[in-house]
Amino acid sequence: MFSLQDAGRAAIDRQARTSLDPDDWQTLRKQGHQMLDDMFDHLQTLDARPVWQHAPSSARALFDAPLPVEASDLADVHAIFRQNILPYGSGNIHPGFMGWVQGGGTAAGMLAEMLAGGLNANLGGRDHMPIEVERQIIRWTRQIFSFPETAGGIFLTGASQANFVAVQIARCRKLGRDIRATGLSDESRLVAYASSEVHGCVPRAFEMSGIGSNRLRGVAVDAAGKIDIGALEQAIVLDRQQGYTPFLVIGSAGTVNTGAIDDLAALRGIADAYDLHFHVDGALGALGILSPDLAHLLAGIETCDSLAFDFHKWGQVPYDAGFLLVRDGEWQRQTFASDAAYLSRAATGLAGGDWWPCDYGPDLSRGFRALKTWFTLKTYGVKALGEAMSANCRLALTLAQHIEQEPALKLLAPVALNIVCFAYVGADGTMPPSVNSHIVERLHAEGRVAPSLTHVNGQPAIRAAIVNHRTSQADIDALVHSVLTIGSRQDLPQC
Ligand SMILES: Cc1ncc(COP(=O)(O)O)c(C=O)c1O
Repeated sequence: MFSLQDAGRAAIDRQARTSLDPDDWQTLRKQGHQMLDDMFDHLQTLDARPVWQHAPSSARALFDAPLPVEASDLADVHAIFRQNILPYGSGNIHPGFMGWVQGGGTAAGMLAEMLAGGLNANLGGRDHMPIEVERQIIRWTRQIFSFPETAGGIFLTGASQANFVAVQIARCRKLGRDIRATGLSDESRLVAYASSEVHGCVPRAFEMSGIGSNRLRGVAVDAAGKIDIGALEQAIVLDRQQGYTPFLVIGSAGTVNTGAIDDLAALRGIADAYDLHFHVDGALGALGILSPDLAHLLAGIETCDSLAFDFHKWGQVPYDAGFLLVRDGEWQRQTFASDAAYLSRAATGLAGGDWWPCDYGPDLSRGFRALKTWFTLKTYGVKALGEAMSANCRLALTLAQHIEQEPALKLLAPVALNIVCFAYVGADGTMPPSVNSHIVERLHAEGRVAPSLTHVNGQPAIRAAIVNHRTSQADIDALVHSVLTIGSRQDLPQC
């Protein structure tokens, strides 16, 4: 056993050598408290600042500096952060942020990140409590999505990575574990299916996996933006007749552009009928299951074989915290586990432990994403998270109603969840669609609200993705007001 005396001697020894720990912990402690206070101030006063502002060249120039060879004072380094980074973030923590699909984070999540940084745990494997925290999250996600006890899961950077890993798992399920060594042959002729509205990371997953994005069939969607089940079945039958091997169907639980949710129960039926792995990309909407108002929209999600989703979006966990839930954890092991002498396991000691995440996914070194997720779920509870999601969807509906009552605005897609796509068309409806990109640029420059720009049916659209738990009716009103004001300005470029 180490005594305190031993610990004191070790600390003195370290200082005599090259340790990066401070000589004066008291000064560091004070500085740390200051940094924490600054961040609390920032979070507490978000409303008083613009969502986003362009970083001046003086700030950018500071990050084109020579490599620091000598030490700097932590207080000075923090001052650079405070003046040149903090005011110029992308703004997704701000209540007026509605761009893309990004979560707002929380104060508890921020604090957990600090603790995780202090612990500096590597969750590749071994026997330590951080691994148990990740296992806890896996158990909770099983419960959330009514998955069986055999289900496995893993934290990944985000849904892009989780979708990619799911493609690898589905490929291995279809062709067997040996495919890892042999690689795909010309004869395998794998094909997969998703709607034409699937997120761009899915075709990229096919590119990265060597299957090729041409082998991902983009199936037509109906007027609500959901995959056309009849067209899907026809495509599968045709591919089989032509000698292809259908192996995977991917449903969207919230398409990126408009938030449409595919008929997941019908997709399960198709997967069973044609022996396909059924994966769901739930990056955006899967956690909606935590809201009693929204859960019914996701019926069938509990039947999928794998599910990608992001705690860092609607779960409000600070970036990054993507997750993949897999119906049978053994499928993950078959796809990723390998023997390496330097990762030898032991029955006891630090090299013990019966669950090493490096056997279940592509990463060996892995951060402690589970801690900020655990803190978020424990601190706020899933009820409050679900209520925030319901509130986001109610705001989306009021925005859509407002747009429909306003002759100068046009709703461009049905509102299924928390995303509203619309256009400024002018009081007489003759405004060229291209003005919408100028309107969005000006909204960003003004800094009160920040939606993003997309195209719906080929037409430029203002897209408000309401994901942040801080967004309120006042922000929605400000969006409508600002779009109308900017749109009616004479100086707006019309092409
Ligand atoms: C439906 C959908 N799938 C996948 C992704 C990619 O997720 P991530 O950014 O976490 O990699 C997104 C991102 O917005 C998304 O909306």
